[in-house]
Amino acid sequence: MEKKSRSSFSGQLGFIMAAAGSAVGLGNIWRFPYLAAKDGGGVFIVCYLVLALTFGFALLTTEIAIGRKTRQSPLTAYKKLDKHWGIIGVLACLVPTIILPYYCSIGGWVFKYLSIYVTGQGAAAAQDGFFTDYITSTSQPLIWMLIYFAITAFIIICGVEKGIEKYSKILMPILVVLVIGISLFSLTLNYTDTEGVTRTGLQGLKVYLVPDFTGMTVKQFFIIVMDAMGQLFFSISVAMGIMVAYGSYARKETNLMTSINQIEIFDTAIALLAGLMIIPAVFVFMGMDGMSAGPGLIFVSLPKVFAAMGGFGGIVGLVFFLIVSFAAVTSSVSVMEAIVSSLMDAFHLSRKKSSVIVAAYTLVLGVIVCLGYNALYFEFTLPNGTVGQILDIMDYISNNCLMPLVAFLTCILVGWVIKPETIIEEVTQGKYKFQRKGLYIVMIKFVAPALLLVLLLQSVGLF
Ligand code: PFF
Repeated sequence: MEKKSRSSFSGQLGFIMAAAGSAVGLGNIWRFPYLAAKDGGGVFIVCYLVLALTFGFALLTTEIAIGRKTRQSPLTAYKKLDKHWGIIGVLACLVPTIILPYYCSIGGWVFKYLSIYVTGQGAAAAQDGFFTDYITSTSQPLIWMLIYFAITAFIIICGVEKGIEKYSKILMPILVVLVIGISLFSLTLNYTDTEGVTRTGLQGLKVYLVPDFTGMTVKQFFIIVMDAMGQLFFSISVAMGIMVAYGSYARKETNLMTSINQIEIFDTAIALLAGLMIIPAVFVFMGMDGMSAGPGLIFVSLPKVFAAMGGFGGIVGLVFFLIVSFAAVTSSVSVMEAIVSSLMDAFHLSRKKSSVIVAAYTLVLGVIVCLGYNALYFEFTLPNGTVGQILDIMDYISNNCLMPLVAFLTCILVGWVIKPETIIEEVTQGKYKFQRKGLYIVMIKFVAPALLLVLLLQSVGLF
């Protein structure tokens, strides 16, 4: 039941920008640098690059091709491929449904920090306890989450070409220029601390990039590989229906292989540059101690780094949070689109109606996520041993459990039921070449499902 009026991106560039806009998000700027810092810099980066070129490439190709082949959004696409496998669509649609409310809450934090630097109050954000005081307050996080979500919903209501594509084409090039600018600036930094030790940006670069295997146990290496794989999922927006939805808007004349390569290069380059912006700067002003800040790296450590830069720090902070805002908005737009388009296809709803339904539940859940740090605060120990609040529980269910499961089932469906040739055929439409065909088949049939199973078992605490 293919609708003739299905929206599409205007061309290859529009598709690449939108997909790169989705891929480049909080994952690249907030998550990648703190994982790289935690996992010994270079070792993590090498693992990540190898996985991106093999495992990431296979999953991204599969999802985009499924979307374009079926011309359906995730909820109905898998059913169209094989009527017994519609469950993957339901699970794939559940992932963005869980993610959207909490992604918007984090987006609200980012907007709050942007407003702080716009109004020249960077010094306040550098105070100890600022971030905790902020997220545990009642009304402010709610207001910023609402503003953030309103912008996301506005872009979705504008449509595929006039909303998603148009804003990605504006925001992504600006983001690239700003990221390169701040990364270069980060390398020029130097600082002498109270003990008289001088550290430079170039020394920080070495900490970030040079692999250091000294004293590393097999178990530690295994954890780094699993971290890199989990990060890759998060980063290229697979296993949550997004790339199926975006693939369904790609025109038949679009060269999928070239597009996929460019999306991957874009996403990986921005993640590497984000580390380059952040890690040398944190090293210069806080030394190795600053590296272990974890998820608080950009909200807790960076404001201190900006404050230590003196007068210039306010501007750097502003540009930095502008970058994060652009990256986050183009990603939450894609998360919302995966759900909105699914409702449109499955229940034949208009874009507006579908958006209103998604907005209503997102706001309710978004409020609950924000209240999880104050009125509804509790501590919960997750099966992988970490202690978290509502946001962490939702993140755990979607990222640690459902995403590996969706990707695993997709590999089985494509590798063994409909066969890799179905995907290869779609990608080579219009006589385009499928590079790394042999690698693709081996990955989708054997290596990716095996790795995913290990990741899933590790996530649920069985490893
Ligand atoms: N790939 C985007 C990012 O890196 O932030 C979008 C995204 C990924 C959103 C994973 C949500 C998510 F759980």
